[in-house]
Amino acid sequence: MEREVEKLQAAYFDLRGKTALITGGASGLGKATADRMLRSNANVVIADFSDAGQKVADELDSKYSMSCKFIKTNVTKEEDIAAAVKLAVDSFGSLDILVASAGIGGDNNAIADETLANWEKVNAVDYTGVMLADKHAINQFLKQGTGGAIVNLASMFGLVAVPSNIAYSAAKGGVVNLTKAAGTAYADKGIRVNCVCPGVINTPLVPEEAKQAYRDLHPMHRIGEDFEIASIITFLCCENARFITGAAIPVDGGYTSV
Ligand SMILES: NC(=O)c1ccc[n+]([C@@H]2O[C@H](COP(=O)([O-])OP(=O)(O)OC[C@H]3O[C@@H](n4cnc5c(N)ncnc54)[C@H](O)[C@@H]3O)[C@@H](O)[C@H]2O)c1
Repeated sequence: MEREVEKLQAAYFDLRGKTALITGGASGLGKATADRMLRSNANVVIADFSDAGQKVADELDSKYSMSCKFIKTNVTKEEDIAAAVKLAVDSFGSLDILVASAGIGGDNNAIADETLANWEKVNAVDYTGVMLADKHAINQFLKQGTGGAIVNLASMFGLVAVPSNIAYSAAKGGVVNLTKAAGTAYADKGIRVNCVCPGVINTPLVPEEAKQAYRDLHPMHRIGEDFEIASIITFLCCENARFITGAAIPVDGGYTSV
C-alpha cells in the first residue's frame, strides 16, 4: 500500500516555469497541493492566516529545488490578497496559478438555527475569499497576457447539500457557480478557472467522529486522502488540462453519483 501511494505521488505534472499562489496552504489540501506543485517544478507562495504557514513553507523549501515562500494572509481582506499576489510576482517574476483552498467549516446549523454571525463568517472566508483571490489573480494574468490557471476548492456539498450546515452548503454552491462565471469570462484569453468538489477528505478540517461517520456514506467505503485531491488540482493547472474551464469536478469516491 505504501509503495502504491508513493507511486501515485510520484506521477509528474509539468509546471516548469510557473509560479503558484496557494491560499490555505499551511494545512490539509492546500499544503498537499503546495508539495505536489513544488515536486512538479513550480515555485510556490503559501498565503494563510495561520502562522504555521511559515514552518510549512520552510520545510517545503528545503525539501525541493524550487522555492516556497509564506505570507500571512486573511483572504477576507482585499489588501492581503493583493500583497500575496505582489509577493509572488516580485519573488518569481509572474503569477501563473492560483489555488484557492483557504476555508472553514463553521457551525453545524440547519437554517432554522443559523446565526447571522456564523453565516457572515463562513461566507466571508469560503465564498468572498475565493472571489477576492480569483479577482486579483485574474487581474495579474490579464496584465501579463500569458493566460493562467485557477482551481477553487468547492466541495461535494456545493453539488449536493448538507442540510445540517446551511452556511457551508450555500458558500460552496456559490463557489461552483462563481467558477463557471469566472472560467468562461476570460476563456478566450487563456485564463482557465475550475473547481474541485472533494468528498470528505482526511484533513484537520474534518472532526475525527465525522470522518468515521462519513466512511460508509462514500460508495468506496472510505474517505479520501489529501494527495488524491492535490494530484487532480495540479493536473488541472498544467497544460494537459488546457481545454477544461468553468468545470466543477467531483473527486468524491462516487458520493454525488448515487
Ligand atoms: N477536508 C475535506 O473533507 C474537504 C472536503 C471538501 C472541500 N474542502 C475544502 O477544501 C479547502 C481546504 O480544506 P482543508 O481540509 O485543507 O482544511 P484545513 O483546515 O486543513 O486547511 C484550511 C486552511 O485555510 C486556512 N484559513 C482559514 N481561514 C483563513 C483565512 N481567513 N485566510 C487565510 N487562510 C485561512 C487555515 O489556516 C488552514 O491552513 C476548504 O475550502 C474546504 O472547505 C475540504
